[in-house]
Amino acid sequence: MDGLTRSSDVHVPGEHVGSDDVDQLLPKHSLLAYEEDSSHSTPSNESLNEHQASAPLLATSLEATAQTESPRLDLPALIQVEDNWDDTDSAYNDETQSYTTSLKSSVTKFEYENGRRYHAADGRSWHFLPNDDAEMDRLDLFHHIMHLRCDERLHLAPINPYSQRILDLGTGTGIWAVMMGELYESASVLGNDLSPIQPTLVPPNVSFEVDDMEKEWCYSTSFDYIHCRYLAGAIRDWPKLMRQAYEYTKPGGWVEFKDFTMKFYSTDGSYERSACTLGDERPTPTPSPDRWTTEIITGIKSLGLEPEPGPKLEAWVRDTGFINVVHHLLPIPVGDWPKDKKLKRIGRADRTQFLDGLDAISLRVFTTTRGWRPEEVQVLLADVRRTLQDRMIHAQHDFHVVYGQRPWNT
Ligand SMILES: C[S@@+](CC[C@H](N)C(=O)[O-])C[C@H]1O[C@@H](n2cnc3c(N)ncnc32)[C@H](O)[C@@H]1O
Repeated sequence: MDGLTRSSDVHVPGEHVGSDDVDQLLPKHSLLAYEEDSSHSTPSNESLNEHQASAPLLATSLEATAQTESPRLDLPALIQVEDNWDDTDSAYNDETQSYTTSLKSSVTKFEYENGRRYHAADGRSWHFLPNDDAEMDRLDLFHHIMHLRCDERLHLAPINPYSQRILDLGTGTGIWAVMMGELYESASVLGNDLSPIQPTLVPPNVSFEVDDMEKEWCYSTSFDYIHCRYLAGAIRDWPKLMRQAYEYTKPGGWVEFKDFTMKFYSTDGSYERSACTLGDERPTPTPSPDRWTTEIITGIKSLGLEPEPGPKLEAWVRDTGFINVVHHLLPIPVGDWPKDKKLKRIGRADRTQFLDGLDAISLRVFTTTRGWRPEEVQVLLADVRRTLQDRMIHAQHDFHVVYGQRPWNT
């Protein structure tokens, strides 16, 4: 991994948004801000769900700084464990109680399984994650986790500040695209996705399209910057995706891929030593999250999809012909065990997205590809939840950010 960059390898000037400000952007807070701020008009379109209505405000309250040089990431690569607990830190406190319980379902053409809503495949790709409001809130929370872990930077590639065209592949709720539109007013930002779940109230330079990125692309103009985040378990042919991204990046333009390794681990052995206690209380030697990830990985692979693109991104980007490739490996803690305050906040939010999102991530894969009954899935998930809430277990998982440039002379 020639381009692997630890947190402090590269320098960048510029200010950061404070962590507290960013936490104000989390879904439940933004809904409050929406209600209290009378300067924003209420959307008249009744089909707009609460989530869609609130999304632009997540972005408009951001005072982000455009960044055009490679950044130095301030957070340490080795996460130290908190050794000074006080009563104000509860194991699962108010700040990160479920964000995902209050919103209504929207009305569009969708499929339902195990009580969750999925996009209607309709000849488009099958996707293992639901697209209902609970999942959309989890995605927005995960956006903030990834954003915080990248030092509140929407991109790490040193893109042209006067970029004209930006593409976000698999945009999800569109929150990243909206924030990029706010940050780069001169650019038009296009987000594509299989699911039409993006907000309709967006800045004028942001738009969305329903599309399958694995099909042949047919954009009339190339892009200055293509962004692609958190597509673990979604893509069959990554090298083809990279080739299309190369073809549609302007010479001198940049691509940036951000993705995960599914496996949990700890640097002090606390996770590896934890035993799985299933419903019948028989201890097994494997931590229950390992059983969970093994099933998910096997299930996703059986569909021909790549469950863990993160560690492979750099090689794919290089092999495609991009140059100036940089790889940041950014472990994300699960839980509030880190000593560092910002990592503690990230870990707390990450534990919440896992606790809230386990059903979403698991149900379709376990029931359709692994033959589990929903009740059996819930028994395993209960033990996964127990492990992830144990403060003595210092679990983390890896987030990879890789960016590269299309050569000017191509
Ligand atoms: C885990 S979400 C991540 C969303 C967003 N990139 C983010 O980081 O918040 C993955 C998204 O990719 C979309 N997706 C999966 N396969 C796709 C495909 N072949 N073409 C377009 N979108 C796809 C899903 O619908 C989903 O919204």
